[in-house]
Amino acid sequence: MRLLIKNGRVLDPTLGLDLIADVYIVDGKIEGVEENISVSADRILDAHGLWVLPGLVDIHVHLREPGEEWKEDIESGTRAALHGGVLRVACMPNTKPPVDTPEVCSAIIAKAKEKGYVPVYPIACITKGQAGKELTEFGRLKLAGAVALSDDGKWVQDSEVMRKALLYAKSFDLPIISHPEDQALSFGGQVNLGKLSAKLGLKGVPFTAETVAVVRDLLLAKETKGKLHLAHLSVKENLPFLRWAKEEGVNFTAETCPHYFHLTEWECDGYNTLAKVNPPLRTEDDVLAIKQAIKEGLIEVIASDHAPHSPLEKDVEFELASPGMIGLEFLLPLSSSLVREGLISPLKLLELLITNPAKVIGIEPPSLRKGEKAKIVLFDPEEEYLVTEDFIQSKSKNTPFLGKTIKGRVKKVILEDKVYEF
Ligand code: DOR
Repeated sequence: MRLLIKNGRVLDPTLGLDLIADVYIVDGKIEGVEENISVSADRILDAHGLWVLPGLVDIHVHLREPGEEWKEDIESGTRAALHGGVLRVACMPNTKPPVDTPEVCSAIIAKAKEKGYVPVYPIACITKGQAGKELTEFGRLKLAGAVALSDDGKWVQDSEVMRKALLYAKSFDLPIISHPEDQALSFGGQVNLGKLSAKLGLKGVPFTAETVAVVRDLLLAKETKGKLHLAHLSVKENLPFLRWAKEEGVNFTAETCPHYFHLTEWECDGYNTLAKVNPPLRTEDDVLAIKQAIKEGLIEVIASDHAPHSPLEKDVEFELASPGMIGLEFLLPLSSSLVREGLISPLKLLELLITNPAKVIGIEPPSLRKGEKAKIVLFDPEEEYLVTEDFIQSKSKNTPFLGKTIKGRVKKVILEDKVYEF
């Protein structure tokens, strides 16, 4: 089977490519990327006006399997990933049971091999039962396939436990992914602390809940030289501390998610549980600061924090609703606004979505290099469309973007010689 993708804007951060060119695929492998390839092909795809890129790597995904399959499972979650052009998924360990033993880790990998549309890389817990007390067995978890360690959903509140985790993980070359939230400060919080929390009469989460945690973890990473990844940053007060850590050469990377540079706390007005998320949506100033952090290279990863919940967890009073929103299918569309706004180049954006996240978890990113198996996304950065439940492939439909018009659409995904059309 010979497949020719014609006249797309070929963007590959692994090769530093940004040019109008053709991509030629033979028997599922990339044969060449060049201008005006004239060969006979079994199928020609016209990519005029589209971006042609290697698949995205999303390192912050809740697949909910094992234990909460009514929200999502490995099959439905990876189908949603494919629909979003995400061709590598690292999944968070706050499942039921949590991924704190090699057995659970291996079971996820086995299930993903059987049912997954795209490869899945499990992240294991830092502490047993995510209880923040006793470290898991990092070496055995790595042997079972874990690519990182995180108690995501919870911060490791005890500084000495976190310090030991950073030291111990270093010997296995595993990153520690922190969920920076001082639970003593955020306890009972429902939305950002500010005008909206006052209006709704809900307990607010102060920015300090995040920044206190960020600063402690950066200090511990500086001392231990362990590899730290800060998940889902949302507040402007982090920026001076991230700058300081860069200057100090601290071994860290930082991540944000599209909702933190698209939405503000006001999405929760009217007690909209679809916009309830942890950390909470913040203010316009925070949105601007998160964009600034991306522009400055302080934040180097954009991940979805895909957190599916069913109506059972969302169609309830605000204080009872589970935090989180789905995001795999909106990761590229929503992130592409950074390019349209002139904040960063398309190639830079794809570093944040492909090469940098792959580096955090130590995997090879998808690439258009000759000889690679095709893992290619055709994306229209200009198409506008309404987000409907029918559009969403995830089992859960919990997103505040439902009923909104967004720009940027994944049109096709090519996996070896299979072409998925959306
Ligand atoms: O909103 C969130 N939901 N934040 C988290 O850190 C966890 C996630 C979940 O698992 O639902």
